[in-house]
Amino acid sequence: MLSKISSRRDLLKTAGAVATGIILSAVPGVSFAVKEKAETIPAEILMRDHGVLHRLILVFEECLRRIEAGKELPNGTLGNSAEIVRRFVEGYHNKFEEEELFPRFESAGKLGDLVKMLFVQHQAGRRLTIAILDNANGASDERKQRLIRNMREFVRMYQPHMAREETVIFPSLRMFVSQRELEDLQKRFDASEQEFLARQGYAKLVDQVAKIEKQLSILELSQFTPPV
Ligand SMILES: [Fe+2]
Ligand SMILES: [Fe+2]
Repeated sequence: MLSKISSRRDLLKTAGAVATGIILSAVPGVSFAVKEKAETIPAEILMRDHGVLHRLILVFEECLRRIEAGKELPNGTLGNSAEIVRRFVEGYHNKFEEEELFPRFESAGKLGDLVKMLFVQHQAGRRLTIAILDNANGASDERKQRLIRNMREFVRMYQPHMAREETVIFPSLRMFVSQRELEDLQKRFDASEQEFLARQGYAKLVDQVAKIEKQLSILELSQFTPPV
């Protein structure tokens, strides 16, 4: 049994090493191993940003559940989370994709239709966020219905949007972007992130989202775990 486990571990280790290019460093293509390491960095940061949006979507879903049940939302929860979407997701993450990622696909003639649709979705998302902020405190029934519709559209659009970027766009970069370009992209990304997060680091941003989750009683992960 132990030998089975250890051989399975060896297999996983081997698979992991191949995936990260470590094994390839043992053969003449050393530069390829280095390239693999550098390539994963921009994608990791972009996916880390997506993590924040995933949590904001959970916040929206909880807000939706309460609004539809006719319950009051804790003060500021919806407005503050929509403001983080506007500032961080749209003003920084999406902007970076539009200025630094999508044009590389366009100039390489790769995945044109997908990239166009992702751009259209960024624009649609910005319109939805403005509408959500406008109606976050809407008292009339009409405004509440519009708010519900816009939040549902936001959640429905952004889940497949992120999934497509994570499984197609980010991994595809390695297929046509040179090592030098990737390093340049990394520098731009670092500069862009530093500029945006100058006053508050990533951890503080996550803290802000966690505070909203706490207000909505969805912070504790254990509540989402089914009995084993
Ligand atoms: Fe995007
Ligand atoms: Fe993204």
